[in-house]
Amino acid sequence: MARFTVITFGCQMNSHDSERIGEVLRGAGHSEAAGLADADLVLLNTCSIREKAEQKLRSEVGRIAQLKRERPGLTIAVAGCVAQQEGESLLKRMPEVDLLLGPDNIPELPRLLLEAEGAAAPVVRTAFDLEAPHFLAAAAEPGRTPVSAFVTVMKGCNERCTYCIVPHTRGPERYRPSREIVDEVARLVAAGAREVTLLGQTVNSYQAPLKELGPAPGAGEAPWQHTRGLRAREDESEFAALLRAIAAAVPGLLRLRYTSPHPRHLTVSLIRAHQELQVLARHVHLPVQAGSDRVLRRMLRRYSAAEYEERVAALRAAVPGVTLATDMIVGFPGETRDDFAETLELVRRVGFSLIYGFKYSERPYTAAVNLGDDVPEAEKAARLAELIELGDGMRRQLMSEQVGTRQQVLFEGRGKTGALRGRTERSEIVHAAGPESLIGSLCQVVISGSYKNSLLGEIPGVVAEGPAPRAPLPRAAGPARSLPVVPS
Ligand code: 5AD
Ligand code: SF4
Repeated sequence: MARFTVITFGCQMNSHDSERIGEVLRGAGHSEAAGLADADLVLLNTCSIREKAEQKLRSEVGRIAQLKRERPGLTIAVAGCVAQQEGESLLKRMPEVDLLLGPDNIPELPRLLLEAEGAAAPVVRTAFDLEAPHFLAAAAEPGRTPVSAFVTVMKGCNERCTYCIVPHTRGPERYRPSREIVDEVARLVAAGAREVTLLGQTVNSYQAPLKELGPAPGAGEAPWQHTRGLRAREDESEFAALLRAIAAAVPGLLRLRYTSPHPRHLTVSLIRAHQELQVLARHVHLPVQAGSDRVLRRMLRRYSAAEYEERVAALRAAVPGVTLATDMIVGFPGETRDDFAETLELVRRVGFSLIYGFKYSERPYTAAVNLGDDVPEAEKAARLAELIELGDGMRRQLMSEQVGTRQQVLFEGRGKTGALRGRTERSEIVHAAGPESLIGSLCQVVISGSYKNSLLGEIPGVVAEGPAPRAPLPRAAGPARSLPVVPS
C-alpha cells in the first residue's frame, strides 16, 4: 500500500477532484504521506486553462523526477486537464511519468496503479464517461467534512468560447441526477457542513437528466429586450428548480452558492430563486470576459454587453445589495485599445466586488488559434495592470465601506492568529475573536477594520451558537449597489 501526496493546480473543480482522489486512494487502503519526502506516490492534478499552468507542471515534474532518480520506487501520476489534453504526447516530454489519467477516470485509480506497478510502459487512461457519467460524491465524515463544502452538479461544457480549452479537456455537458445532488448536500450538512457551493463549468445550464424536476417559477419567461425573438437564446436550464429542491430538502443548510454560471443562463427563474430563497448568498461570480461587443462576438460568448447588463440589472432589482465578481480576459486576438476601453467602461458601469483578470493565452485545440495572438505581451500586461488598478480601487472602496456595518459571517475555523476565521456572503474573509462553539455558525459581526483582502470584526453580545437560524434578510427595495448589511 502506498503513501500518497496530491499536488493540485487550477480551479475549484480540480481542488474538489483532488479531495475525491484522496478519498478513492484511502478507500483502497492507501494512506496520506506527510509530504513529498515520505511519499511513494505523487499525483499531480493539472490545469491547462492558460499556458502558465502548464509551465508550472513541467517544472514540478522536473523537481519530482529528480527525487525519483534518488528513489526509483516513487510513482508519478499526472491527472486532470493536461493529462486529458496531451495524453501519450505528454509522456514523450516527461518520460518519468508512470500513469496518466483524465478527470473522468478517478474512480479507476486504484486499479490503474496496480497496472502501472507491473507494466513496462506508462499506463494511460483518458476516456470520457459519456455513456454512464459518474459523479464522485464527497465522503461525509463528521470531523473531516468542512463547514464550507463543494458538490458537483454537472461536468463538461457545451459552449464553444473560442479561447477556451475546457470543452476539449472536460468533454460535453453531463448532468447529475437531482436526487443524488440533494442527498449529497443533506449528507454533508448532517456531517457538519453549513455552506455548499454547487460546482459546474456552466453550472446554471443544469438540466435534470431524468426529467425529475418540475418547472421553477419564472421558467420559460424571457422578457429580455436584447434577446427577444432569438430562438438560439431560448433557455431550457433547470438550475433554479435544482436550487429550490435543495433549499426545500435541506433546512440545516445556511448558505448556498454556485460557480461558475454563464450569463446567458441567468434566467428569470434563477433571479426569482435568488429573490425568494434566503439560503442563496447575495453574491454571484458572473464571468463577463470583455466589455466590447466586437470582442464578445469573436469570443463566441453569445451575449452582448447590453444583454449582460440587462440581466445584472434584473438580478439587482430583485436582490438588493447583491454583489458580483467577474472574470476578464485582456489582449484577446484583435482587441484594440478602444475595445479595451469598453471593458473598463463596463467595469465602471456594473461595479464588481472582485475581478479575476487574465492575459489571453493561446491554447491548442481552440478556435481562437486561427485568429492569431496579435496583442503584444507588453500591451497585454499594461491592459491587465490598468484593469487590476480599477478593480482594486472598487474593491478597496467596498471593503472600507463595510467598516461599521453588520455582516453575516459563517465561521469556518481559526486563522493563524488564533482568531475565528469566516466569510461574508461575498466570500470576504473576516477575522474576529470568539469561542470555538461559533465555528459552523452564521453570526452577526460588526466590521471594525478593513485590509486589502480581509476584514476585521467583532461579534456583539449573544449570538445563536451551533447551527444558527438564518436571520431574515431584507429583500425589499434598497439602493442597487449597497452592501449586504444585515439588521441586528
Ligand atoms: N486565456 C486567458 N484566460 C482564459 N480563461 C479561459 N481560457 C483562457 C485563455 N485561453 C479564463 C476565463 C475563464 C477563467 C476560468 O479563465 O476568464 O472564465
Ligand atoms: Fe470555457 Fe466558455 Fe465553457 Fe466557460 S463557458 S468553460 S469559458 S468554453
